[in-house]
Amino acid sequence: DAPKPLAGKKAVVTSGPTHEPIDPVRYIANRSSGKQGHAIAEALAQAGADVTLVTGPVTLPDPAGVKVVRIETAREMLEAVQAALPADIAVCAAAVADWRTADEAGQKLKKDGSGVIPDLKLSENPDILATISKSGPMRPGLVIGFAAETENVTAHARAKRLRKGCDWILANDVAPATGTFGGDDNEICLISGDDETSDERWERQSKTGVARALSARIIKHFS
Ligand code: C5P
Repeated sequence: DAPKPLAGKKAVVTSGPTHEPIDPVRYIANRSSGKQGHAIAEALAQAGADVTLVTGPVTLPDPAGVKVVRIETAREMLEAVQAALPADIAVCAAAVADWRTADEAGQKLKKDGSGVIPDLKLSENPDILATISKSGPMRPGLVIGFAAETENVTAHARAKRLRKGCDWILANDVAPATGTFGGDDNEICLISGDDETSDERWERQSKTGVARALSARIIKHFS
């Protein structure tokens, strides 16, 4: 049997997009595939962790050996994550919609021929990473987020780490030319400190490679 260095550790991982309903048949969403979050959940489970994966709508199969909770909205994701606490490790890899419609229409919005265009009012969604990073008895020991940026990647990611209050940020470049968003590869810089001396630049690799590298780094952190 493979060694299980994370045996006895609980982990919660978020993955995929969220869907924010406009009316019963329409929603606001984004292009997140869930590949990175699902791969991380699987890698942590392979290392022996007890993993809950909270995922928005994706077309991926459930990772092996993981408890999967399916949600649609950001608010449902926050609720499911909080229900999975306490945990030793939290990895927020989901692409949570920043905004939802302020009031979901109970019936399908109709195009009635008058040319009147619905005026969608938005409100801000909860920030799951920032919420669980707040100090308190339920804060996971190691909270990890992602910063998908298109420019000044590490500087923006470092600021994001402080703003969110998480321990590590995995910074990645999602400029369209990189093909990262929805693609199979990822190039990561792990940011764990206030300045660049602690930055760890990982070679460009598959999202499963990134998941294994993160799992190895988490194992090192706990040993
Ligand atoms: O603020 P931004 O969306 O760039 O932050 C990205 C990080 O925050 C990711 O780890 C993402 O999963 C997390 N996040 C979250 N809840 C939100 C928005 C982002 O957990 N509402």
